[in-house]
Amino acid sequence: MSASAVLEHLERNFDQSVNRLVEWLRIPSVSTDPAFKAECRRAAQWLADDLASIGFTAELRETKGHPVVLARHATPRGRGGSLRGRGGSLRGRGGSLRGRGEARVPHLLFYGHYDVQPPDPLDLWDSPPFEPAIVDGPHGRRLIARGAVDDKGQVMTFVEACRAWRDAAGSIPCDITCVIEGEEECGSVNMHQFLKDAKEEIVGAAAPGSPCDFAVVSDTGMWDIDTPAITYALRGLVYLEVILHGPSRDLHSGLYGGCVPNPINELARILATIHDADRRIAIPGFYDDVRPLTAGERAEWAALDFDEKAFLSEAGLAQGYGEKGYSLLERQWARPTCDVNGIKGGYQGQGAKTVIPSSASAKVSFRLVPDQDPRRVVEAFRRWINAQLAPGCRVEIIDHGSGRPCLTPIDHPAMSAARAALKEAMGRDAVLIRSGGSIPIVEGFKSNLGLETLLIGFGLSDDRVHSPNEKFELKCFRAGQRSHASLLGRLASLGG
Ligand code: BES
Ligand code: MN
Ligand code: MN
Repeated sequence: MSASAVLEHLERNFDQSVNRLVEWLRIPSVSTDPAFKAECRRAAQWLADDLASIGFTAELRETKGHPVVLARHATPRGRGGSLRGRGGSLRGRGGSLRGRGEARVPHLLFYGHYDVQPPDPLDLWDSPPFEPAIVDGPHGRRLIARGAVDDKGQVMTFVEACRAWRDAAGSIPCDITCVIEGEEECGSVNMHQFLKDAKEEIVGAAAPGSPCDFAVVSDTGMWDIDTPAITYALRGLVYLEVILHGPSRDLHSGLYGGCVPNPINELARILATIHDADRRIAIPGFYDDVRPLTAGERAEWAALDFDEKAFLSEAGLAQGYGEKGYSLLERQWARPTCDVNGIKGGYQGQGAKTVIPSSASAKVSFRLVPDQDPRRVVEAFRRWINAQLAPGCRVEIIDHGSGRPCLTPIDHPAMSAARAALKEAMGRDAVLIRSGGSIPIVEGFKSNLGLETLLIGFGLSDDRVHSPNEKFELKCFRAGQRSHASLLGRLASLGG
């Protein structure tokens, strides 16, 4: 199946696709802040309506948190009467995409998220975060808004590709289940339950058309503005809040200072010993399950044309930093790390107040690599911190969610289809990369549904994700649409 008519259609209708994305970006779907609960639902409904307009059966599925958009498209061939039923002959499959000698329509799960990070600090934005602005940059026009690249813009690369197949070729050539959630930016805590509940509908007998073959996610990055990338590993995450309690009330530091534990002093002391002089994590057992880098991977990454200086200078830095013995890419992609993401305690107001606070707290997160287990890391941390406590202090630990690291096989049939699609869309070979970021539920596709995941993203490292002035290059938006359009065509012919 050729995608050329579809690619031309995308080109002609590009401006309308930008307008649709702008409309979605206007909805402030900040998942972590309860004040935006209704806006999250509105963003979910916007997408469900858009998917319904191109022939998907789309609905909002309730969770304990924000709703999930579940949308299905079964090709006429695979449908077998109703959206829920399907022809039994299409069920058979081995490890490959092919059915038993019969043309089989591939079924893919497309996952993304409609929620966004809080936009603060607001005063650092050049234009309001939910009033998308299109401005000129070195690579042409770019769209500036919270969620532009993470992840609304990237979700729309796929939706626009589906729309173009329908409009230019008459139909979308694959069976598709879209799962677009609203809690990725706060840990996807309800997604495992959602996948358990929806399993039958995604990979079981109730799946639209045929059981799902693999997942596709666009929530990562390209190598650079001209070069596509396929991400084959994500780091996992553990996110904890540590509250150190000391005296039962705030105390006068002249009367009590030096005679009682100060929770801020104590917390700072403990946090300062997480890393040793080589910037390795000093928590006993932390590295137990870390899979060492292979010599092959180290050599491949060393050969990549990665501009460390540019990466650092874009963040205002002149020198590298991190665990001794590893290169920047190795530290970012394949080594576990720990960062304090926030710290609070004591007097924060104007002027001076001599006080020993009764408690202090910090948000502490760990990035994990294969084969670390979030539960084991939390236990190691708990044991270690309890052993560090000064007399009179007590620690409370709140778990804000975790995600396992993941590695995807690079020899999956979807991988070669993706390489060809990315090449067709951008005219260059894709670079195989890992990512330091996390998408907590990706590992769940494997453990809950048995699906491998293809990660093809269209962000750039200077897109300022989670920061003020988040942007998405329209060149990348176009490249993403083209890639998905080409991929859908190639997968369809793989299945047949
Ligand atoms: N899309 C990002 C993750 C990402 C960014 C992967 C860039 C690769 C390249 C995702 O939305 C994200 O921000 N994840 C969070 C997870 C957390 C909030 C549970 C992260 O990595 O911090
Ligand atoms: Mn994202
Ligand atoms: Mn994000």
